[in-house]
Amino acid sequence: MPKPRTRYVCQECGRVSVRPLGRCPSCGAWNSMVEEVIVPETGSKTASGGTPLTSAPRRLHEISGDVEERLPLPIAEFARVLGGGIVPGSIVLIGGDPGIGKSTLTLQMALRMAALGPVLYVSGEESERQIKMRALRLLRSPAGETLPMPSDLLLVTETNLDAILRHVENVKPRLLIVDSIQTVYRPEMSSSAGSVSQVRESASRLRELAKSSGIAVFLIGHVTKEGAIAGPRVLEHIVDTVLYLEGDRFQAYRLLRSVKNRFGATSEVGVFAMGERGMEEVPNPSEAFLAERMVNAPGSAIVVTMEGTRPILVELQGLTSPTSFGNPRRTPNGVDFNRLLLVAAVLTRRVGVRLGEQDIFVNVVGGLKITEPAADLAVAAAIASSVKDRPVRADAVLIGEVGLSGELRSVSQLDIRLREAAKLGFKAAIVPRRLRRSLPWPEGIEVLEARSLRQALDLAQVQKN
Ligand code: TYD
Ligand code: MG
Repeated sequence: MPKPRTRYVCQECGRVSVRPLGRCPSCGAWNSMVEEVIVPETGSKTASGGTPLTSAPRRLHEISGDVEERLPLPIAEFARVLGGGIVPGSIVLIGGDPGIGKSTLTLQMALRMAALGPVLYVSGEESERQIKMRALRLLRSPAGETLPMPSDLLLVTETNLDAILRHVENVKPRLLIVDSIQTVYRPEMSSSAGSVSQVRESASRLRELAKSSGIAVFLIGHVTKEGAIAGPRVLEHIVDTVLYLEGDRFQAYRLLRSVKNRFGATSEVGVFAMGERGMEEVPNPSEAFLAERMVNAPGSAIVVTMEGTRPILVELQGLTSPTSFGNPRRTPNGVDFNRLLLVAAVLTRRVGVRLGEQDIFVNVVGGLKITEPAADLAVAAAIASSVKDRPVRADAVLIGEVGLSGELRSVSQLDIRLREAAKLGFKAAIVPRRLRRSLPWPEGIEVLEARSLRQALDLAQVQKN
């Protein structure tokens, strides 16, 4: 009988050490190394001392190259992010802040998928009754009547992984949902549920289940303050697909984003709005994000941002107001703080817009988060427009990265962005000057090229006439 071993696992990054350490050598966190006892498995070994073989190498040309068949998922925005439907035997992680709508969206999926075969929904977070109440809400039709409950959706509240696996054996579902992976534990491990080692071991076991049985497994995971699932990013390596559900809790829009996908494109997004009856699909996000726009108001600029392969028009708002006390504040909502500082500095130094005694607020309407520098120009225009109290040309979109010398730098996929802007009726686009002029600009929109931020602001009618 092999002896149990002790090891120490960092709760922040998952680093394993055989010695107890006060500080994690990988991520530098203090007091994060937690003791864990591993009882080695007493599996049979072959005469050669190796593991018995359950796999066999196959010749590449013998392996079928057909695209995997997928279970059709009748929620188009969700299916788009998965790269089609649900791949049998795949394991998907859905992460996001608490209360953002992960359970709601997965229950909606479960209700739809239960029409095709048994679905097992394992919850360690909510009672069966709570889930039933939610399901009733999701099944209400716009007219107010309740749609029929599918008979093949099974619920169980369980957190012991062995018990969950036994339920799976009995139910034989096509789809298994575990809400959430942080509540699941393997009883033979000493660490508590939600710890790095428990989460990782449970997820690995569920992965084996998916691969061996062909059941599609969806894990729900909470994001910690640092933005990584379960503290470390350990889970991301175990699963096939990682989706994040993001959005502002106080706004309706929710973005489902794929950050890893073995079966489709990454950084694809699906757009939803949280409503009375759960997450409703938003097939035309640009229209939705611009719906409440006040045309000709100072401090507003429209940018076309790429979310995966999809262009989305969003409004950026800037507001400046004289600093009343202490240091001027810079408050971004939906754009990166450091990009805002950079844009403000370039506006001051290269364009001559005085911001030294101004508080600056920048807001992305609709709760979207823009991380790409292509939004710099629109951020700059929104701020300059507010300082000067002159509206940005209302029928134009602004696209471009701002460099430290005040130059406007090119961005990717300009064609797709311009076509989307034209589709939504915008007449003009202010973009960085092209170096290569091989292809003509798309039809239906006037493209105004600018070399510098100053020139772009002129074209946007913020600077002079
Ligand atoms: P939930 O799915 O429980 O979030 P998570 O699993 O990510 O923690 O969503 C909770 C929020 O969604 C809660 O604030 C209520 C709201 N909600 C609606 O607005 N409409 C609905 O139809 C449902 C079911 C929930
Ligand atoms: Mg939940």
